[in-house]
Amino acid sequence: MRILESGVDISHQYAKKVIKEGDFVVDATAGNGNDTLFIAKHVGESGHVYCFDIQTQALENTRKKIEKNNMQERVSFICDGHQNMDKYIDQNIKLVVFNLGYLPGGDHAIHTRPSTTIQAIEKSLALICKNGIVIVVVYYGADSGFEEKDAVLKYLKQLDCKKYSVLMHQYINQVNCPPIAICIEKI
Ligand SMILES: C[S@@+](CC[C@H](N)C(=O)[O-])C[C@H]1O[C@@H](n2cnc3c(N)ncnc32)[C@H](O)[C@@H]1O
Repeated sequence: MRILESGVDISHQYAKKVIKEGDFVVDATAGNGNDTLFIAKHVGESGHVYCFDIQTQALENTRKKIEKNNMQERVSFICDGHQNMDKYIDQNIKLVVFNLGYLPGGDHAIHTRPSTTIQAIEKSLALICKNGIVIVVVYYGADSGFEEKDAVLKYLKQLDCKKYSVLMHQYINQVNCPPIAICIEKI
């Protein structure tokens, strides 16, 4: 077993550390529902997960996974862009998770975009409570995702360090652009 983890595993470690039973959390990019399932397990029966995706196929895949685990009561499946999350949520949120890019096994032309991703991160930062976190796993490589990675990093680097801590995990000696995991904590 390796000691250093993948971007997704790092994001799950943070999620596990921050989520307590009864918390309200957001999966901003439901996709195939792996992150939704992971965080749904941790909020318990009294907590709630809002998951967003712009593709009905993604939400169906996520719903199936959640129903198989009998956790549908604690998850809202919202077919809308994450940039509109504030229309659906009025609770204090403990955690927001983003997995950028396209739906694995789906249409690669439908993917997250720099401007809506940044709007959604901005709204997430407003919705999270003190010591709440936003996790962004950035996928890039081949001919896609570079513009979004640059825009996200530029935006996060200028956040006021008195209000937010931003930590980036990036492998620097691997081939094929492994994903970057970024964690933002509201101070
Ligand atoms: C890399 S996948 C997410 C993988 C997912 N976290 C999982 O565990 O399977 C990215 C997803 O973001 C979705 N997406 C793209 N733009 C979006 C937007 N503006 N709002 C919400 N979801 C979006 C895509 O449809 C795709 O399903």
